[in-house]
Amino acid sequence: MRYVPFGKTNVEVSEMCLGTMMFGERIDESRSIEIMHEAFDAGVNFFDTAAMYGGEFGNTEEIVGKGIKGFRDKIFLSGKVHKGVDAKTIIESIDESLARLGTDYLDLYLIHWPRKGMRIGEIMEALDKVVKSGKARFVGCSNYPAWVLECSNSYARLNDLAPMVSHQLPYNLLERGVEVEVLPMAKTENIAVMVYRPIAMGLLAGKYIPGEPIPDDSRAKTDERIAKWLSDYSDGILKLRDFARERGVSMVDVSVGWIRSSPAITCPIMGVSSLSQLKKSLKTFDFTLNPEERDEIGSFFDTEVKELSGGGYGPLRRDLDLVAETG
Ligand SMILES: NC(=O)c1ccc[n+]([C@@H]2O[C@H](COP(=O)([O-])OP(=O)(O)OC[C@H]3O[C@@H](n4cnc5c(N)ncnc54)[C@H](OP(=O)(O)O)[C@@H]3O)[C@@H](O)[C@H]2O)c1
Repeated sequence: MRYVPFGKTNVEVSEMCLGTMMFGERIDESRSIEIMHEAFDAGVNFFDTAAMYGGEFGNTEEIVGKGIKGFRDKIFLSGKVHKGVDAKTIIESIDESLARLGTDYLDLYLIHWPRKGMRIGEIMEALDKVVKSGKARFVGCSNYPAWVLECSNSYARLNDLAPMVSHQLPYNLLERGVEVEVLPMAKTENIAVMVYRPIAMGLLAGKYIPGEPIPDDSRAKTDERIAKWLSDYSDGILKLRDFARERGVSMVDVSVGWIRSSPAITCPIMGVSSLSQLKKSLKTFDFTLNPEERDEIGSFFDTEVKELSGGGYGPLRRDLDLVAETG
């Protein structure tokens, strides 16, 4: 396992972050703990969780707390505000999460989703209190538009508060919206980018094959997006499968390799439902793509954001090198 700098924090994390969203929901406690131990033994030191995971509220955090016992201080643990973005919720939510996780601190505490009418100053002041109290080492966001993160960090800079050091986003061959403004901003500002849904819930891993029945034991049974995407992108999925077959690698290797080949990405968050999926996920970090292969794979799906704008404005919004790094 390789380790990569986490934005400007001076911390290095494993290139694979282990997602825990299925723990307690699709996988029981003992199997979840087994997966956490196996991942840690393989060098994974980055675990992502949230209060709302696990079917029943807080369930996943309790399981994660048991899983990381014995190596808590050797991992980088990220968690998220559970609901609301007002100061009271931000401050209470971390206490509740820490109690369930059985730890005194999170390494990273994220605002999970932006909310209509959110007050940036109040959020940043509350997050700063969390950092100053030692309950989180760093703070960040998830699912923020680029400009909201920029406004948040401008407020932090002007008021000498803890800035947001990372962003957590959906990014895969089908969901490419973050290429517009978000990834260029993150690369320029050296914001660590954690990618969620890297294999589109299994669709880009070969779990679902166009024309074949949906497996019974799969997330497609509860998530309607999978069947829709399977039908919308069947051609691309088959091309992806052939590309992987020709090289003797797995579809996970190619799909995750495509994400990792973007210079704006820090690490994918790999969600797994079994030990065998974990083993495939770990192996995928040995595989790399060159820029031509990245373009070829991208062309299998007509999902790059296109804009009807005059001149070169559209491409400018996706240009990772438009502005030199600010640090
Ligand atoms: N910030 C946010 O708003 C947000 C939102 C979503 C997720 N997340 C984070 O991101 C993590 C990953 O998200 P995700 O689970 O949706 O993403 P994902 O990695 O795209 O999908 C994981 C799913 O793919 C299937 N899979 C995994 N490995 C496979 C393999 N080798 N072969 C075939 N299928 C395989 C499994 O589905 P089956 O269970 O059907 O086998 C697994 O549950 C979460 O655990 C969570 O930590 C954050």
